[in-house]
Parts: sequence; structure tokens; C-alpha cells
Amino acid sequence: MKNYDQLIDSALAELESCESLDLLESIRIKYFGKNGEVTSILKNISNLSETDKKDMGKKVNLLKQNFFHNLEKKKNLIEQTQIKEKLKKEQIDISLPTREVENFDSKLHPITHTVNEIVSILGNMGLNYEEGPDIENDFYNFTALNIPENHPAREMHDTFYIKNNQEKLVLRTHTSPVQVRNLKKKKFPLRIFAPGRTYRCDSDITHTPMFHQVEGLVVDHLVTFANLKWFLEKFCKTFFDNEKLKLRFRPSYFPFTEPSAEVDINCSITSGKITLGEGDKWMEILGCGMVHPNVLKMSGVDDDKLRGFAFGMGIERLSMLKYGMPDLRDFYDSNINWLSHYGFSFLETTDLSWR
Ligand code: PHE
Repeated sequence: MKNYDQLIDSALAELESCESLDLLESIRIKYFGKNGEVTSILKNISNLSETDKKDMGKKVNLLKQNFFHNLEKKKNLIEQTQIKEKLKKEQIDISLPTREVENFDSKLHPITHTVNEIVSILGNMGLNYEEGPDIENDFYNFTALNIPENHPAREMHDTFYIKNNQEKLVLRTHTSPVQVRNLKKKKFPLRIFAPGRTYRCDSDITHTPMFHQVEGLVVDHLVTFANLKWFLEKFCKTFFDNEKLKLRFRPSYFPFTEPSAEVDINCSITSGKITLGEGDKWMEILGCGMVHPNVLKMSGVDDDKLRGFAFGMGIERLSMLKYGMPDLRDFYDSNINWLSHYGFSFLETTDLSWR
């Protein structure tokens, strides 16, 4: 019994002088672990006489209570001290003024900004985002879009051909091959849009060899030209943030749509300044039409009841009209003055007020 009283004293004293969480844990193990000193006394308690057993039981319980009570207290104390010390060392002076950043005028390129706007509008109008490769084979870029070899429409495209022995490759001349790639999945209804880079061997005030387009395709039962008209009106009014904008559908020709149309929006031009949504001048902005039955057939879609509409537009052109850049070539001249004038601050988030 004497031994036991000593044990109590030393256990509590060790706790008292302990100053680290690790040490605290090893003290706990020393006394109350699987082979701890108190644990082994308890293991042997059955060898004692009836009265000693009772006495011992009481003592052990009391020690246990005291020990764990003190252990908890000590643990809190050590943790508090550690936090205080950490705070002392890692103090942050929130009254310090921010560092002067010279030249903090990095901007988003207007194409990036315009694509973000288009993604947000078409996404909210229920179309899914899709992509296709910049290097296409001849089949996807032309043949599957009802433009067979030797078709005069191939001449309209000023194509960059890629030297290759196996299959005929081109830098895609439009985003329409993404239509074919998605039609081939044969999951209907199909509602997609695909923005991306396109290439044509051309350079003047309204053309650069690399430019951007966005393609739209909706295929379902009962899709009509009226749906296409409504959709494009909604998109244009939203994109240009102008409810008064008028659209003119002018009959046109694309091999992959029938009937086809080019869409103009109304504007006025006074001393070179274009104002959209007023006046009786017209600006062409996109091509569209009902998906040609040959295109559906060539992608293996043979459901007679499926109809689709498609449209394609130049993103630089949309951007120029909305933000007033006069020359398309400037987009890719990397002129820092132009970029900081026409670029968009990172904090100017995409406008969703149309919803
Ligand atoms: N791909 C056509 C172009 O580049 C645009 C277009 C797309 C027309 C879809 C009709 C339908 O001019």
C-alpha cells in the first residue's frame, strides 16, 4: 500500500512539472497504458484480500479521477501557451499600408472577354459547351458538311493545307466541323455551341489568318426556322445589350444548311461612328440555316423526324461592333497601348444582367 501512495504522488508530480504535449502522453501511457503501472496493479487486484480489494478500488478510482482531471487541465494550459507563443512570433501588422504596385494594368484580351460573354449567354440559353481540334481532316471540315471534293465552295475558304502522307489535314476554316463531331454521337436532342480558333489565308482590315468563330447547333424533333429566328434575336439583343436591335434575315447560301441566311443588324453611321439598334443601315454579323439533310445523313443520322438549326459567327466581328475597334488586325499586333485601351480589367466580370 505504501508503494501505491508513492505512485500516486509521483504520477501527479510528473503531470505537474510536464511542459509538452508529447511528454504528457508518455506519462499517461506510463501509468494508464496497457502495461502501465496503475494498470498492472489493477490486473493483480484479484489477489488481494476482500478489504484490501475494496480499499484499493477506491484509491485507484480517486487517482484515476485526479490524474485525468489534472491531465486535461495541463493539456489546455500547454495548448494555450503554444498558441500565445505562435501569435507572438507570427504577428501580422494589419495597419501596414499595402505595397505600391506600379503598372498594375494587366488586362484580359478583348477576345477572351468576348468569348466569356458568349459562353455565359449561350450557356444560359441552354446550349452545352463543346470543342473541336484546330487541325481537322478534310472529311470533317468539308466533305461531311456537304462540300465534296471539287465543290466550288471549297474555293471560298482559302484553306491552309497541312503536308501529311496518310490523311488530308487542314487548319479548320470554320467551327462547323464541330457540328459533325457531335452529330456522330447520335444523342438527341443535341444542343451545343463551340467557340474556337479558325484559319484562312487572308489578311486585310476585316481579316486575319487566324480568327475566332462560335458555332451553334440545335437538333431535335420539330425544330423550325422560327426557333432559329427567335434564338438569334434573343442572343443578339442580349449580347449587344440592346432591346431595340433589329435583325434582318437575308437569303444566302451555305452548302451545309438549307434554307440558309445571313443575318444583319441595324445601325446608323455618322462621321464614321457606328451606333447599333438605330438607323436603317445594315451590318452583317452571322451565317445560319436549317441543317442540310445530307449533313445529317453523312453523320449517320437517319431519323426522318429530326431537324436542326445551325449558326456561325465571327467573334472578332462581334467584339469590334460592341466595343468599337476599327481594324481587326490590331487584335493580334500585341501593341501594348491598344491592349491596355481595349482590354478588360480582371474585376470586370461577365455581365449576366440579361437574365
Ligand atoms: N461556317 C460558316 C462560315 O464559316 C458559318 C455558318 C455556320 C453558316 C453554321 C451556317 C450555319 O461562314
